[in-house]
Amino acid sequence: MTSKLIDSLKTKRVVPLVQSDDPKTALKISDALLEGGLDVLEVVLRTDAALDCLEAIAKEFPQAHVGAGTVLSADQSQEVIRRGASFIVSPGLDPASVKVANDAGVPILPGISTATELQQAWNLGLRTVKLFPASLVGGPKMLKALSSVFRDVQFMPTGGVNPGNLKDYLAVPAVLACGGSWLTPGDAIAKGDFEAITKLAEEAIALAKS
Ligand code: 3PG
Repeated sequence: MTSKLIDSLKTKRVVPLVQSDDPKTALKISDALLEGGLDVLEVVLRTDAALDCLEAIAKEFPQAHVGAGTVLSADQSQEVIRRGASFIVSPGLDPASVKVANDAGVPILPGISTATELQQAWNLGLRTVKLFPASLVGGPKMLKALSSVFRDVQFMPTGGVNPGNLKDYLAVPAVLACGGSWLTPGDAIAKGDFEAITKLAEEAIALAKS
């Protein structure tokens, strides 16, 4: 992974998910997150407009690390790179997507949820992965167990991370950062309450530092 991205992940330790069906709203969500101090954003491919959202955010906020999440295939990996993604996150491990990302020099964090999947990722040369869905596959205890064996791997757990358990995850030395949707709640977005998102970002940073 590029050291700039690693540095941002190490500093902020929280990666918010950006999900919207409208690029204008996606820009407002991103602006609110950046205002709150978070500069690594994962735009998830879960709406028809997700690629347009990704492209708009990457163009508007070149100072941020704008990645694509929920990337499921090599074709999607190629497309998100074309649209400006500076990193790729996927729910599972797809070697074809890893190859596309490696060939393009774009960091990829595939999801793993077992030692076997992590070993496959390790043998593909990856040293940073996502644990997904973290809370359902053992949470911090699973991370400790995996990192005692895979000693050079760093993790980004996602799936069930929230302000109530964030510190437990971040206390695991092998955890680089946590990802999650709690920072961008759908009801706040529906109400146009972007200040609430800035506040959540600020609170998450404070929690991560405490
Ligand atoms: C992901 O894509 O990483 C997860 O959907 C995040 O899970 P969460 O919604 O429980 O934060």
